[in-house]
Amino acid sequence: MERVLGSTDMSIVCEHDVVLVRRRVRDLAERHGFDVFATAAITTATSELSRNVWTHGGGGQVRIEELQREEGHGLRLTFTDQGPGIANVQRALSGGYSSRRSLGLGLSGSQRLVDEFELKTQVDVGTTITVAKWTRFSRR
Ligand SMILES: Nc1ncnc2c1ncn2[C@@H]1O[C@H](COP(=O)(O)OP(=O)(O)O)[C@@H](O)[C@H]1O
Ligand SMILES: [Mg+2]
Repeated sequence: MERVLGSTDMSIVCEHDVVLVRRRVRDLAERHGFDVFATAAITTATSELSRNVWTHGGGGQVRIEELQREEGHGLRLTFTDQGPGIANVQRALSGGYSSRRSLGLGLSGSQRLVDEFELKTQVDVGTTITVAKWTRFSRR
């Protein structure tokens, strides 16, 4: 059983929004007792996914949920855009592919930094990526 302690929606339409979202997530991670490694991991994933919403998705939003369950606290982030979508998800997640000649490590890196990762996308409709990170997590 998990309980939602709080929920915040933020829009991501410019580079400064990426900074604000990153800052908010880092503050929440510290407040909810994430250790330095988990805080760095969720903060980095937040940066990459927010940046993708802005640069690839043409802007969008993120919902930040603060969660509690028996084992500990968590953060769930849902990034949504109404952009072009991702035609080849496997390629985009494989690491090293970029449609913009950048590193192409944002998606694959983010997936490895979080405990839960879900990507839903439809060409010409948009992309939703949900990630979660917990203070204590054991893969079941
Ligand atoms: N929100 C998005 N909307 C559309 N395409 C995306 C989105 N996020 C990622 N992509 C696609 O997946 C590729 C890989 O993303 P990423 O690993 O972050 O690399 P980079 O941002 O450096 O190109 C991007 O180049 C882009 O083609
Ligand atoms: Mg990226």
